[in-house]
Amino acid sequence: MTLSMRPIGKAEWSSWNTLDEEAFGIAVPEHRQELFRRIVEFDRSLGVFDGDLLVGTAAALSFSMNVPGGPIPVGGVTAVGVLPSHRRRGILSSLMTRQLSDLYERGEAVAALYAAEAAIYGRYGYGRAADNLLFRIPTAKAAFTRNAPVDPTLRLRIVKPADARSVFEKIYDSAFEERPGLYDRPAARWDAVLSDHESDQGGAGPLRAVVAEDDGGPRGYALFRIKASFDDHDLPAGELRLKELFGLDPAAYALLWRHVLDRDLVSHVFAPSRPADDPLIHLLAEPRALHALWLDDLWIRVVDVERALPARRYSAPVDVVIEVEDTVCPWNARRWRLTADPSGARCAPSEDPADLTLPVSVLGAAYLGGRPLAALLAAGVVRESRAGALRELSTAMSWGPAPWAGLVF
Ligand SMILES: CC(C)(COP(=O)(O)OP(=O)(O)OC[C@H]1O[C@@H](n2cnc3c(N)ncnc32)[C@H](O)[C@@H]1OP(=O)(O)O)[C@@H](O)C(=O)NCCC(=O)NCCS
Repeated sequence: MTLSMRPIGKAEWSSWNTLDEEAFGIAVPEHRQELFRRIVEFDRSLGVFDGDLLVGTAAALSFSMNVPGGPIPVGGVTAVGVLPSHRRRGILSSLMTRQLSDLYERGEAVAALYAAEAAIYGRYGYGRAADNLLFRIPTAKAAFTRNAPVDPTLRLRIVKPADARSVFEKIYDSAFEERPGLYDRPAARWDAVLSDHESDQGGAGPLRAVVAEDDGGPRGYALFRIKASFDDHDLPAGELRLKELFGLDPAAYALLWRHVLDRDLVSHVFAPSRPADDPLIHLLAEPRALHALWLDDLWIRVVDVERALPARRYSAPVDVVIEVEDTVCPWNARRWRLTADPSGARCAPSEDPADLTLPVSVLGAAYLGGRPLAALLAAGVVRESRAGALRELSTAMSWGPAPWAGLVF
């Protein structure tokens, strides 16, 4: 088997799809293929070929992703797959190694991805940086607490998603910089979000939307589908499947959730990906009714320690020497002094003794501000040589709100 690696050409798009369908064991409808083709940057793709046969792929998308302090360029890793006939021969490892070195050469200091399985990417230095919660809420148990915010100037407007796209875009653009992990959405991404082909519907009917607004304009929106049904006793058993919900202030947020939870003939709301600090947790009088499942959202890879660490903001002063272990990106494997406070940060090579020793995946896990480091110390993943250094770094890197992207790329 002689393997070679190079970017995938536009003319090879159908081979790329065939590989994807085989690797993931799925059938991708043509319109979905087309939506993805418009998002893909072919010059940032990598294909492994066995002779002429495409047997492995990985791609990077150019994102502007919000991190603590504001958006930075991030490589969004996607379309990772290996033909089942060629699995477990090191093809993924060769793709990941080459991709990380390409990102480094390009000056992209941080990479992000969603993992099909959480066990795959830690070995390449990715750390679990963001979590999401899956909710399955019985609407009968979904009353709010008495102190839920109410704004009488707010009203709801049912809209057709295709007609209100500019409203969604405006609200998302305002929400985007509020939460680490959210990334920019060019037109092709919105096309995918709002795609409403029968195969997008999963048997739950058309995409529906509601906007919360006042005389000053829109303050939030929710996108969802409803799978209507009745149980054996002819009682309503509809399921509302929430796709997105963004509110620009607490009252708009609460009103949109109220609408979602109060739709007639709906007995359950299924919300497959919500942020770990979703305010709904505090709005429900009975938060056990969330039936929350805790899942991994974004995985972050610090590609270039020297550039990545100063590219974000810090919550508190910190001055630590970190010994970074990184076998995949050897340029990171050394001691670094991170000096930061809320006004800015510096990271430079250091010959001083290390205060902390950690695998680069820990920096990725903490990068978006949502992963306290104490548990990693307890798990033995981080070693502390100067007492208190870990707490200092953990406090400085922590940030709110909790990181979350909520939209798989
Ligand atoms: C996951 C996938 C890309 C792995 O490709 P591969 O070429 O078989 O991987 P490699 O041979 O390079 O494996 C490298 C290492 O990762 C491990 N590994 C690979 N896939 C793994 C998985 N799903 N879970 C846990 N470990 C995995 C291998 O055992 C190997 O470990 P080792 O270095 O200790 O021997 C491939 O199996 C695939 O396409 N799966 C279906 C689609 C998918 O899940 N894609 C990822 C989307 S995010």
